[in-house]
Amino acid sequence: MELEDIKRKKGRKKIVMLTAYDYSFARIIEEAGIDIILVGDSLANVVLGMKQTKEISFEEMFNHTKAVKKAAKDTLVVADMPYVAYQENPSQALFYAKKFVEEAGADAVKIEWFEEAISVTQDLIENNIPVMGHIGLTPQTVDKLGGFKVQGKDYEGAKRLLRQAKIWEREGIFSIVLECIPYELARLITHTLRIPTIGIGAGPFCDGQVLVLYDILGLYKNFRPKFVKVYKDISSLIKEAVLQFKEEVEKNIFPPPPSSFTISQENLERLKKELGERQS
Ligand code: KIV
Repeated sequence: MELEDIKRKKGRKKIVMLTAYDYSFARIIEEAGIDIILVGDSLANVVLGMKQTKEISFEEMFNHTKAVKKAAKDTLVVADMPYVAYQENPSQALFYAKKFVEEAGADAVKIEWFEEAISVTQDLIENNIPVMGHIGLTPQTVDKLGGFKVQGKDYEGAKRLLRQAKIWEREGIFSIVLECIPYELARLITHTLRIPTIGIGAGPFCDGQVLVLYDILGLYKNFRPKFVKVYKDISSLIKEAVLQFKEEVEKNIFPPPPSSFTISQENLERLKKELGERQS
Protein backbone atom coordinates (compact mmCIF):
# COMPACT_ATOMS: atom_id res chain seq x y z
CA MET A 1 0.00 0.00 0.00
CA GLU A 2 1.40 3.37 -1.04
CA LEU A 3 0.49 6.85 0.19
CA GLU A 4 -1.33 7.59 -3.05
CA ASP A 5 -3.45 4.42 -2.65
CA ILE A 6 -4.49 5.66 0.78
CA LYS A 7 -5.51 9.05 -0.60
CA ARG A 8 -7.42 7.43 -3.46
CA LYS A 9 -9.51 5.45 -1.00
CA LYS A 10 -11.30 8.58 0.19
CA GLY A 11 -14.96 8.35 -0.64
CA ARG A 12 -14.49 4.89 -2.16
CA LYS A 13 -13.37 2.42 0.47
CA LYS A 14 -12.78 2.72 4.20
CA ILE A 15 -9.18 2.92 5.40
CA VAL A 16 -8.22 0.55 8.20
CA MET A 17 -5.39 1.46 10.53
CA LEU A 18 -4.19 -0.39 13.63
CA THR A 19 -1.32 0.21 15.99
CA ALA A 20 1.50 -2.30 16.39
CA TYR A 21 4.72 -2.13 18.31
CA ASP A 22 6.66 -5.28 17.54
CA TYR A 23 7.71 -7.75 14.87
CA SER A 24 5.36 -10.63 15.66
CA PHE A 25 2.14 -8.61 15.88
CA ALA A 26 3.12 -6.56 12.81
CA ARG A 27 3.49 -9.77 10.85
CA ILE A 28 -0.05 -10.88 11.73
CA ILE A 29 -1.42 -7.45 10.84
CA GLU A 30 0.34 -7.43 7.49
CA GLU A 31 -1.01 -10.93 6.75
CA ALA A 32 -4.50 -9.62 7.52
CA GLY A 33 -4.10 -6.92 4.87
CA ILE A 34 -4.59 -3.87 7.10
CA ASP A 35 -3.94 -0.62 5.17
CA ILE A 36 -1.76 1.23 7.68
CA ILE A 37 0.19 0.23 10.77
CA LEU A 38 0.71 3.07 13.19
CA VAL A 39 3.60 2.62 15.58
CA GLY A 40 1.71 4.78 18.03
CA ASP A 41 3.24 6.42 21.03
CA SER A 42 0.49 4.58 22.93
CA LEU A 43 3.46 2.19 23.15
CA ALA A 44 4.30 4.27 26.22
CA ASN A 45 1.11 3.17 27.99
CA VAL A 46 0.23 -0.28 26.71
CA VAL A 47 3.70 -1.80 26.41
CA LEU A 48 6.03 0.26 28.58
CA GLY A 49 3.59 0.98 31.42
CA MET A 50 4.14 4.75 31.43
CA LYS A 51 1.45 7.15 32.60
CA GLN A 52 1.65 9.59 29.69
CA THR A 53 2.66 9.22 26.05
CA LYS A 54 4.76 12.34 26.55
CA GLU A 55 7.24 10.29 28.58
CA ILE A 56 8.41 8.05 25.77
CA SER A 57 11.88 8.58 24.31
CA PHE A 58 12.89 8.84 20.68
CA GLU A 59 15.03 5.71 21.01
CA GLU A 60 12.09 3.65 22.27
CA MET A 61 9.87 4.76 19.39
CA PHE A 62 12.72 4.26 16.92
CA ASN A 63 13.50 0.68 17.96
CA HIS A 64 9.87 -0.39 17.87
CA THR A 65 9.32 1.23 14.47
CA LYS A 66 12.32 -0.65 13.12
CA ALA A 67 10.96 -3.96 14.44
CA VAL A 68 7.51 -3.34 12.95
CA LYS A 69 8.83 -2.41 9.52
CA LYS A 70 10.94 -5.58 9.41
CA ALA A 71 7.73 -7.59 9.50
CA ALA A 72 5.51 -5.25 7.51
CA LYS A 73 7.44 -4.58 4.32
CA ASP A 74 4.28 -4.23 2.18
CA THR A 75 2.19 -2.24 4.64
CA LEU A 76 2.33 1.51 5.05
CA VAL A 77 4.04 2.08 8.39
CA VAL A 78 3.55 5.42 10.13
CA ALA A 79 5.84 6.31 13.03
CA ASP A 80 4.36 8.49 15.73
CA MET A 81 6.78 11.30 16.51
CA PRO A 82 7.31 11.32 20.28
CA TYR A 83 6.84 14.60 22.13
CA VAL A 84 10.59 15.00 22.73
CA ALA A 85 11.33 14.75 19.03
CA TYR A 86 9.32 17.78 17.90
CA GLN A 87 7.19 19.56 20.51
CA GLU A 88 10.01 19.98 23.00
CA ASN A 89 12.35 21.31 20.35
CA PRO A 90 10.65 21.95 16.98
CA SER A 91 13.93 22.71 15.21
CA GLN A 92 14.95 19.07 15.82
CA ALA A 93 11.83 17.61 14.19
CA LEU A 94 13.41 17.10 10.77
CA PHE A 95 16.45 15.39 12.26
CA TYR A 96 14.30 12.83 14.11
CA ALA A 97 11.76 12.37 11.32
CA LYS A 98 14.58 11.55 8.93
CA LYS A 99 15.82 8.90 11.32
CA PHE A 100 12.36 7.29 11.39
CA VAL A 101 12.12 7.25 7.61
CA GLU A 102 15.70 6.69 6.47
CA GLU A 103 16.92 4.39 9.25
CA ALA A 104 13.88 2.71 10.83
CA GLY A 105 12.08 2.32 7.49
CA ALA A 106 8.86 4.22 8.30
CA ASP A 107 6.88 5.41 5.29
CA ALA A 108 5.57 8.51 7.06
CA VAL A 109 5.44 10.19 10.45
CA LYS A 110 2.49 11.38 12.51
CA ILE A 111 2.49 14.56 14.57
CA GLU A 112 -0.12 16.00 16.90
CA TRP A 113 -1.33 19.57 16.52
CA PHE A 114 0.56 22.09 18.69
CA GLU A 115 1.49 25.79 18.45
CA GLU A 116 4.31 25.16 16.00
CA ALA A 117 2.65 22.43 13.96
CA ILE A 118 2.66 24.50 10.77
CA SER A 119 6.38 25.28 10.65
CA VAL A 120 7.31 21.72 11.64
CA THR A 121 5.02 20.33 8.91
CA GLN A 122 6.54 22.66 6.31
CA ASP A 123 10.00 21.59 7.32
CA LEU A 124 9.16 17.90 6.99
CA ILE A 125 7.20 18.11 3.76
CA GLU A 126 9.82 20.31 2.04
CA ASN A 127 12.22 17.48 2.85
CA ASN A 128 9.95 14.80 1.37
CA ILE A 129 8.76 13.33 4.65
CA PRO A 130 5.08 12.44 4.39
CA VAL A 131 3.09 13.67 7.36
CA MET A 132 -0.11 12.43 8.99
CA GLY A 133 -1.75 14.97 11.30
CA HIS A 134 -3.64 14.34 14.55
CA ILE A 135 -6.21 16.72 16.05
CA GLY A 136 -8.91 16.65 18.70
CA LEU A 137 -7.88 14.81 21.83
CA THR A 138 -4.12 14.91 21.42
CA PRO A 139 -2.66 12.85 24.28
CA GLN A 140 0.79 14.48 24.25
CA THR A 141 -0.76 17.80 25.31
CA VAL A 142 -3.68 16.39 27.27
CA ASP A 143 -2.85 18.60 30.27
CA LYS A 144 -3.58 21.69 28.17
CA LEU A 145 -6.90 20.19 27.01
CA GLY A 146 -8.30 19.72 30.48
CA GLY A 147 -7.80 15.96 30.56
CA PHE A 148 -9.04 13.04 28.52
CA LYS A 149 -12.35 14.43 27.31
CA VAL A 150 -14.22 14.98 24.08
CA GLN A 151 -12.93 17.98 22.12
CA GLY A 152 -14.81 20.37 19.84
CA LYS A 153 -18.18 20.22 21.56
CA ASP A 154 -18.54 24.00 21.85
CA TYR A 155 -18.63 26.36 18.86
CA GLU A 156 -15.18 27.87 19.42
CA GLY A 157 -13.56 24.49 19.96
CA ALA A 158 -15.21 23.00 16.88
CA LYS A 159 -14.19 26.01 14.77
CA ARG A 160 -10.61 25.68 15.99
CA LEU A 161 -10.45 22.01 14.98
CA LEU A 162 -11.94 22.71 11.55
CA ARG A 163 -9.38 25.47 11.05
CA GLN A 164 -6.48 23.23 12.09
CA ALA A 165 -7.65 20.53 9.67
CA LYS A 166 -7.90 23.00 6.77
CA ILE A 167 -4.51 24.58 7.49
CA TRP A 168 -2.91 21.18 7.68
CA GLU A 169 -4.45 20.05 4.41
CA ARG A 170 -3.15 23.23 2.76
CA GLU A 171 0.34 22.45 4.06
CA GLY A 172 0.24 19.07 2.34
CA ILE A 173 -0.33 16.36 4.95
CA PHE A 174 -1.62 13.14 3.40
CA SER A 175 -4.23 12.24 6.02
CA ILE A 176 -5.45 13.26 9.45
CA VAL A 177 -6.47 11.44 12.63
CA LEU A 178 -9.54 12.85 14.37
CA GLU A 179 -9.57 11.71 17.98
CA CYS A 180 -12.50 11.92 20.35
CA ILE A 181 -14.63 14.61 18.71
CA PRO A 182 -18.40 14.72 18.07
CA TYR A 183 -19.37 12.63 15.08
CA GLU A 184 -21.18 15.54 13.40
CA LEU A 185 -17.99 17.59 13.50
CA ALA A 186 -15.95 14.63 12.19
CA ARG A 187 -18.45 14.32 9.34
CA LEU A 188 -18.12 18.03 8.54
CA ILE A 189 -14.32 17.87 8.56
CA THR A 190 -14.39 14.73 6.43
CA HIS A 191 -16.65 16.38 3.86
CA THR A 192 -14.59 19.57 3.87
CA LEU A 193 -11.19 17.97 3.29
CA ARG A 194 -9.91 16.27 0.16
CA ILE A 195 -7.45 14.17 2.20
CA PRO A 196 -8.73 11.17 4.18
CA THR A 197 -9.74 11.46 7.82
CA ILE A 198 -9.11 8.52 10.14
CA GLY A 199 -11.26 8.51 13.24
CA ILE A 200 -10.85 7.18 16.74
CA GLY A 201 -13.83 7.97 18.91
CA ALA A 202 -15.05 10.26 16.13
CA GLY A 203 -18.01 8.29 14.78
CA PRO A 204 -18.75 6.38 11.60
CA PHE A 205 -18.46 9.12 8.96
CA CYS A 206 -14.67 9.34 8.81
CA ASP A 207 -12.82 7.93 5.79
CA GLY A 208 -11.18 5.34 8.00
CA GLN A 209 -10.88 4.06 11.55
CA VAL A 210 -7.98 3.36 13.87
CA LEU A 211 -7.82 1.56 17.19
CA VAL A 212 -5.06 0.53 19.53
CA LEU A 213 -4.18 -3.14 19.02
CA TYR A 214 -3.90 -3.89 22.74
CA ASP A 215 -7.41 -2.45 23.22
CA ILE A 216 -9.12 -4.58 20.57
CA LEU A 217 -7.39 -7.65 22.06
CA GLY A 218 -8.38 -6.79 25.63
CA LEU A 219 -4.73 -6.68 26.71
CA TYR A 220 -4.67 -3.24 28.28
CA LYS A 221 -6.87 -3.07 31.36
CA ASN A 222 -5.83 0.20 33.01
CA PHE A 223 -8.08 2.43 30.96
CA ARG A 224 -10.67 1.62 28.32
CA PRO A 225 -12.22 4.54 26.45
CA LYS A 226 -15.94 4.33 25.68
CA PHE A 227 -15.36 4.04 21.92
CA VAL A 228 -13.13 0.94 22.13
CA LYS A 229 -14.45 -2.42 21.00
CA VAL A 230 -12.75 -5.53 22.34
CA TYR A 231 -12.91 -7.92 19.38
CA LYS A 232 -11.27 -10.82 21.24
CA ASP A 233 -10.18 -10.80 24.84
CA ILE A 234 -6.96 -12.75 24.46
CA SER A 235 -5.74 -11.86 27.93
CA SER A 236 -7.83 -14.73 29.35
CA LEU A 237 -6.40 -17.09 26.71
CA ILE A 238 -2.87 -16.00 27.60
CA LYS A 239 -3.56 -16.51 31.30
CA GLU A 240 -4.91 -20.01 30.62
CA ALA A 241 -1.79 -20.96 28.69
CA VAL A 242 0.50 -19.53 31.37
CA LEU A 243 -1.36 -21.40 34.14
CA GLN A 244 -1.22 -24.65 32.18
CA PHE A 245 2.53 -24.25 31.66
CA LYS A 246 3.00 -23.56 35.39
CA GLU A 247 1.01 -26.64 36.35
CA GLU A 248 2.82 -28.93 33.91
CA VAL A 249 6.26 -27.77 35.04
CA GLU A 250 5.36 -28.17 38.70
CA LYS A 251 3.95 -31.67 38.09
CA ASN A 252 6.89 -32.65 35.88
CA ILE A 253 4.62 -33.21 32.89
CA PHE A 254 6.52 -30.71 30.77
CA PRO A 255 8.81 -31.33 28.97
CA PRO A 256 7.95 -34.91 28.00
CA PRO A 257 11.11 -37.04 27.72
CA PRO A 258 10.90 -37.88 23.99
CA SER A 259 11.00 -34.19 23.06
CA SER A 260 14.37 -33.70 24.70
CA PHE A 261 17.68 -33.56 22.85
CA THR A 262 20.15 -36.39 23.25
CA ILE A 263 23.89 -36.82 23.56
CA SER A 264 25.73 -39.98 22.47
CA GLN A 265 26.21 -42.67 25.12
CA GLU A 266 29.93 -42.50 24.46
CA ASN A 267 30.18 -38.77 25.25
CA LEU A 268 28.00 -39.19 28.30
CA GLU A 269 30.17 -41.98 29.69
CA ARG A 270 33.27 -39.87 29.05
CA LEU A 271 31.79 -36.95 30.96
CA LYS A 272 30.74 -39.18 33.85
CA LYS A 273 34.17 -40.74 33.99
CA GLU A 274 35.87 -37.33 34.09
CA LEU A 275 33.47 -36.21 36.80
CA GLY A 276 34.21 -39.35 38.81
CA GLU A 277 37.93 -38.80 38.45
CA ARG A 278 37.61 -35.21 39.65
CA GLN A 279 35.43 -36.19 42.57
CA SER A 280 37.73 -38.98 43.75
O1 KIV B 1 -0.54 6.47 19.75
C1 KIV B 1 -1.59 6.04 19.25
O2 KIV B 1 -1.96 4.88 19.40
C2 KIV B 1 -2.40 6.98 18.50
C3 KIV B 1 -3.73 6.52 18.03
C4 KIV B 1 -4.67 6.45 19.15
C5 KIV B 1 -4.25 7.35 16.92
O3 KIV B 1 -2.00 8.09 18.30
